[in-house]
Amino acid sequence: MKKMRLIVAMLLATALLLAGCASETADTTAAPVPTEAPGATEAPAATEAPAAEATEAPAEEATGETPNIDAIKEAGKLVMLTNAGFAPYEFLGSDNTVIGVDVEIAGAIAESLGVELEVVDMDFDAIVFALQSGKGDLGVAGMTNTPERAETVDFSINYVDSQQMIIVQEGSDITGPADLTGKNVGVQMGTTGDLFVTDDLEGVNVQRYKTGPDAGAELAAGKLDAVVIDAGPAAQIAAANPGLVVLETPATEEPEQYAIAIAKGKDDLKAAVNAVLEQLIADGQIQAWIDEYNEISSAESAA
Ligand code: ARG
Repeated sequence: MKKMRLIVAMLLATALLLAGCASETADTTAAPVPTEAPGATEAPAATEAPAAEATEAPAEEATGETPNIDAIKEAGKLVMLTNAGFAPYEFLGSDNTVIGVDVEIAGAIAESLGVELEVVDMDFDAIVFALQSGKGDLGVAGMTNTPERAETVDFSINYVDSQQMIIVQEGSDITGPADLTGKNVGVQMGTTGDLFVTDDLEGVNVQRYKTGPDAGAELAAGKLDAVVIDAGPAAQIAAANPGLVVLETPATEEPEQYAIAIAKGKDDLKAAVNAVLEQLIADGQIQAWIDEYNEISSAESAA
């Protein structure tokens, strides 16, 4: 029975994938299906899958070609590792659960696999190691796809363009990265902002914090001269702290791209993640979530 359900779920997933490729409108009709995928009553939908695909799916299961996806289905949950305090991507909602763009994305991936999403909030600089040691399936944390990180984890396709920005107090004499020399600059530990200020700038007194908002609070309290952090959270931190502004001149020329981190070698999972990301990007859904969670985050800090 369990096997039958799995096969039905896989057929449905195949049908969904095909539907997704076939037309843009498929998404609206297909969306509710994954949550019901394990239900036997959904079986008729599977008949839409072409015969060739239908015979391939069980074979794949038998030969273990999707070992990581099989394990996730077996566990019934997809575990996302993240670091809240990075609005609009991941932050604590009013009920203290982690919400945001990345949670929505991981939720869509979990739904496509027919499992629940579990969100684990941890230190940002611990995520890569935790993935390597099997503590979770995906690192979804506004994580910049860097060549250095790619030596230890795999990355999905990129899903957001970002850049490092500089937050200062209104009226500050700092107008760009060159002015950070000799200044007290806050960063979130282990981030690309930390690496930039530490490695690429000379003579900066770098102060490392557990989260971006912690650094923002210190800046607002006058204990720092600037904070270097990604564009999205920078705007949210400035909005949450009267008197703070984001400089127009970015900290770095180089744009950064966010991608989902996956332990090396989990190619089946990576393919499933990429398929969902491609669809979300094509639908403009990620940008819609960015707008939505920017508003939720601003409303929260205004409250
Ligand atoms: N994009 C930056 C990096 O990869 C910062 C990410 C911080 N993410 C977080 N969830 N706190 O280093």
